Formats: sequence, C-alpha cells, structure tokens
Amino acid sequence: VRKIAINTGGGDAPGLNAVIRAATLAALSEGWEVYGIRRGYMGLLEDVVDDEPGFFPLTANAVRGITHLGGTILGTTTRGNPFGLEVRQPDGTWGKVDRSDEIVERFREREIDALIAIGGDGSLSIAHALHLKGLPVIGVPKTIDNDLSATDMTFGFQSAVEVATDAIGRLHSTAEAHQRVMVVQLMGRHTGWIALESGLAGGADVILIPEIPYDIDRIVEKVKQRDVQGRRFSIVVVAEGARPANGEASFLDSTGRYGGIADRLATQIEAATGKEARSMVLGHIQRGGEPIAFDRSLSLRFGAAAVRCIREGSLGTMVALQGNHIRAVPLGDAIRDLKRVPLDSELVVCSRQLGISFGD
Ligand code: F6P
Repeated sequence: VRKIAINTGGGDAPGLNAVIRAATLAALSEGWEVYGIRRGYMGLLEDVVDDEPGFFPLTANAVRGITHLGGTILGTTTRGNPFGLEVRQPDGTWGKVDRSDEIVERFREREIDALIAIGGDGSLSIAHALHLKGLPVIGVPKTIDNDLSATDMTFGFQSAVEVATDAIGRLHSTAEAHQRVMVVQLMGRHTGWIALESGLAGGADVILIPEIPYDIDRIVEKVKQRDVQGRRFSIVVVAEGARPANGEASFLDSTGRYGGIADRLATQIEAATGKEARSMVLGHIQRGGEPIAFDRSLSLRFGAAAVRCIREGSLGTMVALQGNHIRAVPLGDAIRDLKRVPLDSELVVCSRQLGISFGD
C-alpha cells in the first residue's frame, strides 16, 4: 500500500472529522500518502470543487485539532451518487447520468490503493457497488439514525440522542407551566432509535416510532389518564417516519421529506382532549455541533481500525462495533437490511414497564 483516499458522503454526523483525523494519522504512520476527496465523489470528477482542489493531500497539519469539530472538513453531499448523477439536459430538464466507470478509472489513474468511505446506508451502498466494479473500499458506519446492520452502533447517534434528550427535558417545564401537551418530532425516517433512546432518557409519556404503528385514540387515552392522575401536561416524542396503524400514509411531503407529523398529532390531540397542544420539529440541530465524548472515541477507533483493515488486505468490508470490539464485516452484509428497533427490544420493554405509551 502506498496511497489511500478518504471521502464522506450523505448527511453529516458528529464524529466525521474524528474518523478523518484518526485514519489520516494512522495511515501516515504506516508511511502511506493520504488524500481527501471533496464532497463525496465530486472531487474525483472535477479538479476544482467549491473553489478548492477536489483531490488534495491530507497531512498531519490538515487534520490537527479537528476531533471535536462537527461537520466534515471534506464536505459532503446527498446528491452525489455517481451511478445516477443529476445533470441539466440541453432541453433544460434534469436527467441522471452514470459516471461510476469514470470514478473507478480516476482511482486507477491516481494509483490509489484503497478508499475509506465514511457513510450511512446510501453512501455505503454506493461504495459497495463501486467495490464490485473493482475499487478497493473500506466502509465506516456513519449516521445519527443508528440504522445500519452489522454494527451495534454508528457514530453520531449518541450525540444526536444527547441533543434530543436535552430538548425533551426543556419541554417539561414549559409544558407543566401551561398544562399543555408538547409534541416533539425527531429524526428517524425508517427507524425509531433516536426517539426511543431520547424519549426514555428524557421522560416522554408517549414515544411513536416507525416500527410500531400508532392509534391516535391510544395517545389521547394516555393524555386523559395522566390528567385524571393530576399530571396535567404530557410530552409526546415522535420519530418523523412514524405512521398511523389505520393505513393512512406516513407524512412524506411532496419533496420526499417528512414534515408535519408533529403538527398533525398536536391538532388531533387538542381536538380530542380539549387541552392546548403545541408541536415542534427539532430538525438538523440533532446533526449539528460537536460530538460527545463517546462519539469522538468511537470515531477515532473506527478510523484507526479502517487503516488496520487496509494493512491486512481486508477490503470490501466495513468496520463495526460489536460488543466492545471493532471488527471488519462484509460491506454487503452491512447494507442488506436496515437495523430496525425489534419489537421485543429491551428498550421497548423497559419503556412499557415505566408506563410509556407507544400508541398501540
Ligand atoms: O441522516 C439521516 C437523517 O438524519 C434522517 O433522519 C433525516 O430524515 C435526514 O437525514 C434529513 O437529511 P437532509 O435534510 O439533510 O436530506
């Protein structure tokens, strides 16, 4: 091995910079050259990206003091799939072009021995497909949603849970002061990990997750029951991808984003209970800012482990946390299915024992 490259793809997550730093320092200490690719794979297709070189050396200096920083020094994009890059056609409409062969070609030209691809489900699927075309890849599991299989945890998740728990905690005092129902919408398109962990830690009364379809009547019942017990406020935590059991569609808007579920619930609860209800969407605050200590050290461990995988020739794999060990698992296994909250998960069982309702 002489040369490796690193990129970050998809939505950002706290800890990206720590992975980049650890992988760079570990690779430099092997005597390898390390390069950063700007904004996913853009920096390979374009010489200049955002007025900066698309492909550039990562030195010890370049990664100094970045462990604690949110975002990514490499930049990222959710529109950079080389198998279907969005481009403007001569007639003004948008079309998709497959530039994956070019990516593999650029790697060969630059004599890169391996790519460390830091990404979630989408970015790692792209990395896997490129690997099948001959590009030597190691994946690093990133997403605040914690929904990647084969790893007990992704980096970024615990930082998001910390932010969400703090927000839920803050809602208690204002909810109690006004005797209101507060509905807070958290991230989690397909899985409810953030809502479940932070709802439990933050003292939610109701937690709604995509894995357990809810019945609005059950939620109303819970709020009324609390009222009778003299608890005149309630906190409802809802993952953006939660859906009602009655077959109504989930709350995807026309742009494919999840909006409005908290608002809808607040309106329904207010109408059915006569209590004032308010909604809020926590949004990208869950992804922003510094990683907490757990995510910093997990990210550093992942970055260093990725370099060990390359040294040992273990390519086409993803580094994963299993128990307290970092292991390499086949990339194909990691992206096969999303890791959903099991219905008999101890977190769910514990929440139910504490009287938290899942609206079912
Ligand atoms: O990283 C995944 C995620 O956090 C989802 O939970 C959320 O729906 C999505 O990203 C939003 O991403 P963006 O608005 O950046 O496309």
